Amino acid sequence: MATSEPAGNARPTSGLTANNLEAFWMPFTANRQFKQAPRLLVGAEGMYYRSADGRQVLDATSGLWCVNAGHGRQSIADAVGNQIRELDYAPAFQMGHPKVFELAARLVTYMPTGIDHVFFTNSGSESVETGLKIALAYHGVRGDGSRFRLIGRERGYHGVNFGGISVGGIVGNRKHFGTLLTGVDHMRHTHDPTRNAFSRGEPEHGAELADDLERIATLHDPSTIAAVIVEPVAGSTGVLVPPKGYLQRLREICDRHGILLIFDEVITGFGRLGTPFAFDYFGVTPDIVLTAKGVTNGVVPMGAVFVKKEIYDTFMQGPENMIEFFHGYTYSGNPVASAAGLATLDAYESEGLLTRGADMADAWADGLHSLKELPHVVDIRNCGLVGAIELEPIAGAPTKRAFAAFLAAFEAGLLIRTTGDIIALSPPLIIQKSEIDLLFDTLGGVLKTLE
Ligand SMILES: Cc1ncc(COP(=O)(O)O)c(C=O)c1O
Repeated sequence: MATSEPAGNARPTSGLTANNLEAFWMPFTANRQFKQAPRLLVGAEGMYYRSADGRQVLDATSGLWCVNAGHGRQSIADAVGNQIRELDYAPAFQMGHPKVFELAARLVTYMPTGIDHVFFTNSGSESVETGLKIALAYHGVRGDGSRFRLIGRERGYHGVNFGGISVGGIVGNRKHFGTLLTGVDHMRHTHDPTRNAFSRGEPEHGAELADDLERIATLHDPSTIAAVIVEPVAGSTGVLVPPKGYLQRLREICDRHGILLIFDEVITGFGRLGTPFAFDYFGVTPDIVLTAKGVTNGVVPMGAVFVKKEIYDTFMQGPENMIEFFHGYTYSGNPVASAAGLATLDAYESEGLLTRGADMADAWADGLHSLKELPHVVDIRNCGLVGAIELEPIAGAPTKRAFAAFLAAFEAGLLIRTTGDIIALSPPLIIQKSEIDLLFDTLGGVLKTLE
């Protein structure tokens, strides 16, 4: 390969060419392995990606749990393009633009009564940091600053920033990063394959695991705890559906002790479970709701943190010329993301996508659970349009079997996601029955070939 010519003031790049894969340090990727046999996507429409070698690849993961309305939406593309031409950027601090207010006003209509304000971010990780900071500051502002502890859960994923990995419960995401936030404790996770394997929907057993919060509150004294954060359905660690009654019990304990309940709905938000949000599905109202991903159909980075009126109002005191909350991002609610968010909401609403998962959930669960007898399958679980197939790990080589499934599926024209030895599935909400059949036929074929 020819050495590229330095352009302008760029330094010589010692062998790098435009198509060289080396420079990009890929996130959450086995870089060396990938670069030996890259898997490149070059186009997308509806339910399908197009690979660099020209194949159609059925998207069983909505990208990374974010392209809920399917790929290549013309209306979103137009909204983004028009917005860039009309107003590309407006300062986010001490200035505004109309579309972010419009988006906020429309989004809060999806929240439970009493949750009526939204703070914009650019990612799930930023939504997590923002939510945790709001929780801590809220208690401080209302004169209860001794509430400084945050409680998370094992196997929780709350993004990759310091607050998120502190309350998160994934060893690999935490171990290299020092002491993290102090004053954090963790409840046990709810995954119990001994009692709940092959559950359809919410597992029967494990509501009592919520009592971990009571135990932790007793240990530290409840008056020191600011908030507890959970994913209603833990996504990234393999679709862990909460046991029946578990979230209700968490809510009760929080109420008893004045602890804020934060739902991280970065994955479960925007129709994933067949209801607009997971709080609708489970009938449990949190105090703070964290979102990202589906808010713009994954097209432009954006996150949104929803809070109760009482929380917002608590900050709105003191001299009116003073900034009430010292937090925000250059791109909080930027015009292009706001335009994408509005067009995405239009698509969700006009096609009923935020509840479509409920119509497809039975066909989805049937297809998923039809794989039960295949080799190495030790558990299958589902909720709305999310599913997971857990495989027996190869002795001494954890993650290898599922990754082999991932590679074979991609070759067979199917994009799945694996985490550990678990295959996680979350297709765009536009999926048809024929595509559900294709997905599980293909995946079944792949599973049969695994060593
Ligand atoms: C529940 C949850 N919270 C937070 C995040 C972090 O989102 P992001 O990757 O946009 O920072 C994710 C990402 O998958 C997530 O699943």
